[in-house]
Amino acid sequence: MDTLGFNRRKFLQIGSTVAVASAVTPITYGASLFKDDILELSTDNENLRLFSNENPYGPSPKVLDAITKYTNRVNRYASFHTYDTNNLKKMIAERNNIKEDQVILGHGSFEILCMLTRTFGKEENSIIVPATTFNVTAAFADRIFDHKVKRIVLNQAMNIDLEATKKAVTKDTKLVYICNPNNPTGKALPVAELVSFCKEVASSTCTVAIDEAYIELMNPSDTPDTIKLLKEKHNVLIIRTFSKAYGLAGLRVGYAMGSSETIALLNHEFYNFGGLISNPGVVASITALEDTTYVDEYRKKNQEVRTYVEKSLDTFDIKYLKSNTNFILVDVKDAKRFRSELKPFGFAIVPGGGKHYPTWARISIGTLKEMKIFLKAVDGMNWLKA
Ligand SMILES: Cc1ncc(COP(=O)(O)O)c(C=O)c1O
Repeated sequence: MDTLGFNRRKFLQIGSTVAVASAVTPITYGASLFKDDILELSTDNENLRLFSNENPYGPSPKVLDAITKYTNRVNRYASFHTYDTNNLKKMIAERNNIKEDQVILGHGSFEILCMLTRTFGKEENSIIVPATTFNVTAAFADRIFDHKVKRIVLNQAMNIDLEATKKAVTKDTKLVYICNPNNPTGKALPVAELVSFCKEVASSTCTVAIDEAYIELMNPSDTPDTIKLLKEKHNVLIIRTFSKAYGLAGLRVGYAMGSSETIALLNHEFYNFGGLISNPGVVASITALEDTTYVDEYRKKNQEVRTYVEKSLDTFDIKYLKSNTNFILVDVKDAKRFRSELKPFGFAIVPGGGKHYPTWARISIGTLKEMKIFLKAVDGMNWLKA
């Protein structure tokens, strides 16, 4: 009996106690948006992926239709009629009322985070990042340079410490990276604090990069207007992705918006051949931007399921951070044990808190059905409850 076979059977067995029996019929991703029957495909024949903060429902049906319709064009680079990288850039610029030369596309926002390292990290201490965050820019710097970047530990409330960050800025600082909401904490900075930080710190020699990978999942009323900062000529770089709210992680499209000068600096690190974005990625991203209701639906659904998880964790007396995203950071006391005890249930998670929070684990929010099974597994861990 192979491990995957075992996990799968065991998982479905457990699942059947809390879910409907029809769960085993494979269905097409996205076609039955938010219906409670997408368990089969989201297992990916492997593990239940509660570790990458993906949209568990997949992209909108309109996006799937568009990708399918143009599969016969995969012999072409991403430049045909509507579905051209320049059109995608243009669309992003128009939506945000900025100029086209203020937008850069990346092979996922991951590529943009690496561009930041190459552009701003050549000298010692020229980059400042939170010590607990999405670590790409700093980790890439560790790999390609002999020197370290400055890492600022989170404050007592596990928020990015803007005061300490401000104090760490010197004339040599070229980039401050802020992730809002932060990964792995899921916490968002108070809007006024972030805005005044950007106004104070961003300058012609120091770019403040704000990674907004999860911004679409926040309540719109709590969301900082970082585009306004850009229009007011503060040197901020806003990084976004189609991977999370739009459900397109596998197609690898991200982008950044900044001043024309900052985008020109990044372009210098980017040997642009039609944007290096895949043709289906461009088709999907353009269609996703046109489908204006899908993200709202996912935001609501994610909030609903997240609240369900939070209430259950409250019942178990398990500590977690209130999240603004599609993941929750939970104090599981012993992250290794937690992880290994979830394995037989078919769940894969990451420890999440890094060296500063070793007892915490980051849990992505899946479908309600997945989370019910997850919570049932957690309920069985008596050692974990307070
Ligand atoms: C905060 C943050 N930024 C950027 C990324 C990279 O996403 P992608 O390269 O898929 O756009 C992730 C992925 O998990 C993330 O959590």
